[in-house]
Amino acid sequence: MLWTVFLLLNGLLLLVLLYSTRRRQKNEPPLDKGLIPWLGHALEFGKDAAKFLARMKNKHGDIFTLRVAGHYVTVLLDPNSFDSVLNDNDLSHNRIQLLQRIFSLSLPNIEPAAEKKWMEQHFQGVSLSRLSRAMNTHLKNLLLSNQEGCNPSEWKRDGLFNFCYSLLFRAGYLTLFERGDNAAAVYKEFCTFDSLLTKLARCSLKREESKTANLSREKLWELLSPDWLNGGSESSSWQQNYIRFLKEAGVDAEMQKRALLLQLWTTQCNAGPAAFWLLGFLLTCDEAMDAVKSEIKGLNLQDVSSQHPPINPLEAHRTPVLDSVLSETLRLTAAVMINREVVQDKILCMANGQEYHLRQGDKVCLFPFLSPQMDPEIHEDPQVFKYNRFLNKRTMKDDFYKNKKRLKYYTMPWGAGRNVCVGKEFAIATIKQFVLLVLTHLDLKIDEAHGTFELPAVNPSRYGFGMLQPDGDLQVKYQLKRRQHEE
Ligand code: HEM
Ligand SMILES: *[C@@H]1O[C@H](CO)[C@@H](O)[C@H](O)[C@H]1NC(C)=O
Repeated sequence: MLWTVFLLLNGLLLLVLLYSTRRRQKNEPPLDKGLIPWLGHALEFGKDAAKFLARMKNKHGDIFTLRVAGHYVTVLLDPNSFDSVLNDNDLSHNRIQLLQRIFSLSLPNIEPAAEKKWMEQHFQGVSLSRLSRAMNTHLKNLLLSNQEGCNPSEWKRDGLFNFCYSLLFRAGYLTLFERGDNAAAVYKEFCTFDSLLTKLARCSLKREESKTANLSREKLWELLSPDWLNGGSESSSWQQNYIRFLKEAGVDAEMQKRALLLQLWTTQCNAGPAAFWLLGFLLTCDEAMDAVKSEIKGLNLQDVSSQHPPINPLEAHRTPVLDSVLSETLRLTAAVMINREVVQDKILCMANGQEYHLRQGDKVCLFPFLSPQMDPEIHEDPQVFKYNRFLNKRTMKDDFYKNKKRLKYYTMPWGAGRNVCVGKEFAIATIKQFVLLVLTHLDLKIDEAHGTFELPAVNPSRYGFGMLQPDGDLQVKYQLKRRQHEE
């Protein structure tokens, strides 16, 4: 027994030594291994990636290599050089491990390119206007049914985050998934699962949390399974088309069921939080709220709603102010991390002509939140919400510079290259519709009873997982506008 322990310890020690003897070679980016063997910077990275990487950027510049939980990760923070990573086929986009860890899902037969093509077919073009129309109807119904049964002159109270997320989540679920009966239950269970998601991804769950996560995942698998998954009648929803796609690729029934949770997360986890930040910024910035409201007044909504068939007023009119507000919101609160794996040793060329050697097996990571999005050289006072940052008189502003070079990537909420969001147009249409509905149908105010008029801080553990979420909530009150309940 003692002997085994001794051998094991020796083995471990050897591993630690092997891992910690890496040295920076000529032509390699600065190497920062951190003090803790093997783990390296993993703890600091997980706690608040934005703060940590900003510190590393100050220390090393726009490119450096870190040790994180046994891996070496080269972080690139110069947006002018992003294309050399995004367009490179020797850098593979590998999500197998994450799918297994978070969703207990493996889809070995699914070709990423085929999946992407399927997604584009079902979220863009003809599908897009059909989905947008359905979404608009669901949003309107939910928003108005929310008010049913209560005295119209009485204020309803809620956290703004919960208000936005639950509405957009349920409307999105009804638009894409089959079972209309359990939207509220799915939302509730999803919140439990989502709150543990970053820890699942980092394998840092405590035993109890792991149990909760497993249980929650299984409940969601059941909730999302429509009856026809085991035979029975079929319809032609988005969900059903997706299942057919999986079947045709040879995915078995169990994995079909599990893949639905992945799609629920991908399609529903971003729009709600984005709408929260957008309305939150408007509520805390009068100048921006006034500008948006006066743009909406000019839209002539009455005109449009009397046409048959009713078309969405946002498709018929340009809304540069609202577009700028949305871009500015996402610049401040969308924090995707783009990860690639180095398939074979290679040279990375930076925009300034510098060349760096990358080692096979290492990872490369872009974190556009730090640069371009929060880079003071690109965006003046980057911490401040300026509703007209992306506005030229009547058009979108799209010329931004770093080192006098015009930037292709000046904000990157939707990712880029192979990692670009397939649902971008649908998401933009959805968020704008939601904001329009809320501002035209409700009187929405910060609830002064809670004594705070400020947006809550960001939950720092979510950097790298798409839209950020608040730590806490902003309490608001709302009621139907008078004009509405007299109709
Ligand atoms: C503000 C809202 C949203 C933001 C900021 C956002 C952002 C992103 C980002 C950054 C990615 C790339 C992730 C990666 O590859 O690492 C992505 C992927 C994706 N998004 Fe969105 N998204 C939003 C809303 C939506 C919505 C509403 C839908 C659909 C209903 C959607 C559908 C998808 C799909 C299907 C992918 C996967 C693409 C693939 O794997 O090839 N997104 N999104
Ligand atoms: C949760 O499920 C995973 C497998 O998906 C398993 O390895 C782990 O032990 C489970 N956790 C608990 C506490 O049961």
